[in-house]
Amino acid sequence: MDPVRPAVASQPTSPELSIVVPTFKESANVPRLVELLDAALVGLAWEVIFVDDDSPDGTSTVAKKIAARDPRVRCIRRVGRRGLAGACIEGMLSSAAPVVAVMDADLQHDETILPKMYAAIRDGADLAVGSRYVEGGSSNQGLSSIRQWGSETATALARRFLHIELSDPMSGFFMIRRSRIEAIASSLSSEGFKILLDIVASSPERLKTAEIPFTFRERTAGESKLDSLVTAEYLGLLFSKLSGGLVPVRFLMFLAVGASGIVVHLAALKMALHVFQTTFTWGELSASVVAMTWNFVLNNQLTYRDRRLTGFRFVWGLVTFYLVCSLGTIANMGVATGLFEMETGPWIAGFAGAVMSAVFNYTVSAVLTWRK
Ligand code: GDD
Ligand code: MN
Repeated sequence: MDPVRPAVASQPTSPELSIVVPTFKESANVPRLVELLDAALVGLAWEVIFVDDDSPDGTSTVAKKIAARDPRVRCIRRVGRRGLAGACIEGMLSSAAPVVAVMDADLQHDETILPKMYAAIRDGADLAVGSRYVEGGSSNQGLSSIRQWGSETATALARRFLHIELSDPMSGFFMIRRSRIEAIASSLSSEGFKILLDIVASSPERLKTAEIPFTFRERTAGESKLDSLVTAEYLGLLFSKLSGGLVPVRFLMFLAVGASGIVVHLAALKMALHVFQTTFTWGELSASVVAMTWNFVLNNQLTYRDRRLTGFRFVWGLVTFYLVCSLGTIANMGVATGLFEMETGPWIAGFAGAVMSAVFNYTVSAVLTWRK
């Protein structure tokens, strides 16, 4: 058993700055990061909050071991959840300090600019961003050329469509007044990687922003978790914000999966008719089952990867999903035939029917199949 230490009479001062560090499989980087922060932040009352998604490599155990002897170190261990943005939000909301920062655990972010970021906020800025793309910053050490291109394209899209002026809205390294986060917490998306972009796009007033250059270092231990799915989620976030948050990112993922399901459906139908020589009705029925199964597996893998169903719950989820889709088809038919009879023409009627079933399937499966 861990020894329980006697209560200390004089408590340490409350932190002026909380540094939130999302972690997934970073056990090798955590101790070094704490040392670097200690060296970079002399004279400031700071704390670091690791937000770990139950990493299998024991990152939270490592962090808590340090926390047990250093009161400036805290760790939130989240179970049954995954996601960078969500982890950052949760960490920031767990802070009581006037200023919060977010930085990666993998030592790619240069901790020595933290005092400059803090000074910018003390001098009146709401937000200080560690930027790779202002004079003096760079990223060619830490990013492959394809990622560099992706990062630049994503930046250009954000500028064009969201009118974001930041030179590096994709940065995962920033500091902000906590009051600004508290005010918009409920409108932030917990999916994806683009937390900074989301904060800027969700803030009702313009945030007074300072950009501080830094060089994105190479990762030495562990590996990057940014994959093509993260990119898809980013595009989703962009559309979601464009619609004023009306269309959730998840729904867009659900739609994309549904679109792939149509292709699968047609391929299965063709196979049933030509290979198995079924009647059209049987072909259509079996193609529907194949497509529904496809959609279920993909949604379970991607759209709801944070609530992924396994084992018996997977089977039960599939059954409920079949049920939801069947009801969705009835809703589709209802709307489409209704409109068709009002002489809107077959295309509008068909389109409205498809929209109806997509919305229906999405909303009902969210509560029935993948309920929280
Ligand atoms: N809690 C939690 N949950 N943390 C996560 C998760 C997750 O699901 N996924 C990643 N992290 C943590 C990592 O452990 C790391 O500390 C940090 O988030 C960044 O993850 P990386 O996997 O190292 O991301 P990257 O280096 O590819 O991307 C970085 O650079 C991008 C710009 O090119 C990040 O800073 C991005 O935010 C940034 O946009
Ligand atoms: Mn990284």
